[in-house]
Amino acid sequence: MVTPELKNKTSEKYYYEDGRRFNSSVRYILPSDKEENARLLEQHLCFKNLLDGNYLAPVKQQLEKGIPVLDSACGYGASWTVEMAKDYPNSQFFGVDISDGFPAKGRAPINTSFSIGNVAKEIPSPDNTFVFAYQRLVFAALTGEDWDNNLREMYRVIKPGGFVQLLEHNLTPYSEGPLFTEACKLMEQGFESENFIFYISTELKDRLENAGFINCVTKITEYPVNHGTNGDSNWRALRGAFKGASPLLTKFFTGGDGEGKYDRFLDAVGNEVTEYRSYVKFYTIYAQKPFIDQQK
Ligand SMILES: C[S@@+](CC[C@H](N)C(=O)[O-])C[C@H]1O[C@@H](n2cnc3c(N)ncnc32)[C@H](O)[C@@H]1O
Repeated sequence: MVTPELKNKTSEKYYYEDGRRFNSSVRYILPSDKEENARLLEQHLCFKNLLDGNYLAPVKQQLEKGIPVLDSACGYGASWTVEMAKDYPNSQFFGVDISDGFPAKGRAPINTSFSIGNVAKEIPSPDNTFVFAYQRLVFAALTGEDWDNNLREMYRVIKPGGFVQLLEHNLTPYSEGPLFTEACKLMEQGFESENFIFYISTELKDRLENAGFINCVTKITEYPVNHGTNGDSNWRALRGAFKGASPLLTKFFTGGDGEGKYDRFLDAVGNEVTEYRSYVKFYTIYAQKPFIDQQK
């Protein structure tokens, strides 16, 4: 719902559309506000449940002993950073995001620190800093060239022998009905219009290897939508992304622009995915920086 006082109100860093706050310093199709923060927290728990943990890379012993860890594009509320910092109090966690509003000092674990930064340009850390670098769900913000820069930067800031782990959705619908197909197509059109790579999940292994990483391991996981264990939560997180991206996606929506039509479409998608037991998949991939730096 567009509130007149919010529509198009701008600050140096943010602009407002459909009553939601968006970051104006990068092109990113989802909002950066409290509502999105709540969605990211729920989404964090969805992925954690589906993966049965917060990471796959073989770094448990090092985390327990104490290592520097990066969470690239950690998110406004930095759910993964905060939780990992609590689980591994001997390790130091550094979160970077283009949006501020990070957990306040005193509320975040003492082994966390945060900085604003554009991870498509430069990660604000010296070479060979981290033993583990994590990055989840930035595909709605990066072009092909951004990915090249980003993975080059991840490589630069990871210590030789250290690990990177990426997680990205693949919004190809399975067991799909016509409405869910249409919704995923809308997202694909939105991505294409911004030169973002909709199927980046399938390119991550090649891109990591091109950046110099070795020993890539990929796990593909089904993400059930509105059915099965936690399916309602998975759908709320996904619906929230379709809703948050509505300023862009409604440009491609052919179901009419009347008040509430897009919302009713999303509600209908939510019913259909339950009936069809639809799902999408997400890719988790980890890789290692060689002990002898092989990057040209
Ligand atoms: C879908 S959220 C994921 C947040 C977090 N990684 C998680 O999984 O909960 C994507 C995040 O990327 C951030 N972002 C987008 N473009 C960015 C950029 N160029 N540099 C740094 N952060 C960026 C957004 O502000 C947002 O917090």
